[in-house]
Amino acid sequence: MPRIAPTGQNLGAAVTGIDLSQPMSDGDFTTIVMALGEHGVLRFPGQDLSSQAVKDFSERFGSIQASIRSTGELPPSGVHGVGLLSNVKQDGKYIGSHDAGQDWHTDMSYRTTMGFVNVLYGITIPKRDGRTLGGTEFRNTQRAYEALPAGMRDMLRDATVTHDFNKFWDHMRHDKGSTRPPLTDEQRALRPPVVHPLFLTHPVTGRKVLYCNPGYAIRINELPEAESAAILDYLFAFQLRAEFAYLNVWTERDLLIWDNIGTIHRAIADYGPEEHRLIKRCQVMADRIFDPGFQAQVLPPRRAA
Ligand code: SIN
Repeated sequence: MPRIAPTGQNLGAAVTGIDLSQPMSDGDFTTIVMALGEHGVLRFPGQDLSSQAVKDFSERFGSIQASIRSTGELPPSGVHGVGLLSNVKQDGKYIGSHDAGQDWHTDMSYRTTMGFVNVLYGITIPKRDGRTLGGTEFRNTQRAYEALPAGMRDMLRDATVTHDFNKFWDHMRHDKGSTRPPLTDEQRALRPPVVHPLFLTHPVTGRKVLYCNPGYAIRINELPEAESAAILDYLFAFQLRAEFAYLNVWTERDLLIWDNIGTIHRAIADYGPEEHRLIKRCQVMADRIFDPGFQAQVLPPRRAA
């Protein structure tokens, strides 16, 4: 039976008493989904997981998104759907995405079916002078919604936002010194801009969230362009306030999961090329969690649709 120990901060809980390499009962999975909705970020310390085990656990939540860089060949993790985040090189080439997620964003807000859960398994975590580097930082977007001025919530109640994959890609290239090439026409066609409500009802907690991350949100569709830009700037800054903040400091063999609907995040690139970081990752889509049949199976009755 998983034991949930909240951090007592704005987000986060440690989950012990469960071995994720073993098949999991439906009851334990429900406990984990409910804790994820409530705490946003869950850390399972001391796990011993193969790539296949990371994938099997991830697929309990929904389908895994294929990487846009996928060639169809077996990836370095050895399992399709499991990516590597890493600055480690072999034969002069990075073995994984070395600069993924290094500014504020929400994974897969740029897909028609948005992202639900990121599942990351820490293998090598950089340290310098006894200090752990390469943390992952979060903000709580359920709390951000609740703290917005009531007038702003009313004015934007039915607003929708366009999200564009290319925004973050270009930001990394132009502002962060990334060497990634521009997206090809084929890649752009695979990731066209999509529209989501600005305020979503969270499928697990039933609370509203502010769903408008700086990485991908480009336009509030119902407003003139200049007003949209001004309000987006306000909302981007608002949700980054310290009062919604949480920092995950990694330990090797942590399995970390987070809820992409109720949080935004960024990877902190505070380590050098020789300070190695190696993490396995699955990005799980929200293709099941909004489905009433799945909710009825997984969520306690009071939360089922
Ligand atoms: C991500 O954005 O999924 C990567 C986060 C990290 O590397 O800490």
